[in-house]
Amino acid sequence: GATVPFHGAHQAGIATPAQDRLVFAAFDLLTDDVAQVRELFQIWTEAAERLTAGQAVGPLAPSDGEPPEDTGEAHGLPPARLTVTFGIGPSFFERDGEDRLGLAHRRPAALRRLGALPGDQLDPERSDGDLCVQACSNDPQVAFHAVRNLARLGRGVVVLRWTQLGFGRTSTTSRSQDTPRNLMGFKDGTNNLRAEEAERLDRHVWVAPDEPQRWMRGGSYLVARRIRMLIESWDRAAIDEQERVIGRRKISGAPIGRQDEFDPVDLRARGGDGLPLIGDTAHIRLASPDTTKGIELLRRGYSFTDGIDPRTGQLDAGLFFLAYQRDPHRQFAALQRRLGTADALNEYIKHTGSAVFAIPGGIGRGRWLAQDLF
Ligand code: HEM
Repeated sequence: GATVPFHGAHQAGIATPAQDRLVFAAFDLLTDDVAQVRELFQIWTEAAERLTAGQAVGPLAPSDGEPPEDTGEAHGLPPARLTVTFGIGPSFFERDGEDRLGLAHRRPAALRRLGALPGDQLDPERSDGDLCVQACSNDPQVAFHAVRNLARLGRGVVVLRWTQLGFGRTSTTSRSQDTPRNLMGFKDGTNNLRAEEAERLDRHVWVAPDEPQRWMRGGSYLVARRIRMLIESWDRAAIDEQERVIGRRKISGAPIGRQDEFDPVDLRARGGDGLPLIGDTAHIRLASPDTTKGIELLRRGYSFTDGIDPRTGQLDAGLFFLAYQRDPHRQFAALQRRLGTADALNEYIKHTGSAVFAIPGGIGRGRWLAQDLF
């Protein structure tokens, strides 16, 4: 179907099948008045209900001479499986040591900034944020329209901090989907968690039903990393080197030494020369739950390009890495601490943006986003 239900136990846009396009936006609050923030959450919930159902957020051509409430560019377009997923950053609760909204007692323990990680070359203007909106759709104009209209409805209460467009999904979140390729030309998402694996999602993605902060029950944590690929160096690397870096074959996606994409990864397998088939610094060895004692993530990233880096004349393109998990410190950060020091991929990438957000639990009919937060 062309719509994804907005209401449910979890927010849509996490375990629902990844759409082709992304518009991601981080916002900062302009107010310390909690009543205004609560009202914004109500307005945003109502707007997202309408948008994901393919409706305008308000009149397109009001008769009273006022500016149209809906900006109009999605009029006549089907929602193309639009999902709108909301998140709350650590600075929502505390900025410069100050409990700005008087909600510090509602901050879940796991919502803390990630802190410095190896390999970080972060641009503060592409990092952090008090709130986020992830809009995904198979139609880029529909996703853009959603973010634009939510920003418009929030005028005076929030201001856009940074945005990121993603033009192609780089992961598979459902068995019903084929594995796409990232900008390195490799299949990405082969060993991702899948929506069909309910038990693994409960273990690794969804915040538990006994979480003390009610508003986070059934929620998750999102880590967003803007990872630039050094495409020109990558493109000069021989195919053997490229496959050695990832630990998989480029065309088939199979683990080195195997035939098919979905053949199990055997990290102990050795070649005729006695050396491991999947090398010690291969990305899939270091990222594997067998190596990390069970760290798993739901990856839901997108390829991006933002034109040309004016300093070098090279393409500013890569992977806007999005990962959902129960605890960003025990999962993403713990994994990135290993990858950031040892991964052969590091020669070809640079992490240029970073943010973490608490993703409130699903929104029931007649309720609104993070209602129990207030
Ligand atoms: C697997 C690419 C960054 C975590 C893979 C695979 C590819 C890939 C091609 C193999 C196919 C698959 O199972 O999806 C990349 C690229 C990156 C990147 C190009 C940066 C531009 C990261 C980061 C993390 C990560 C930052 C987490 C900190 C994983 C995990 C797997 C994986 C957990 C599955 C390993 C397994 O269980 O086999 N990645 N990745 N990746 N990646 Fe990445």
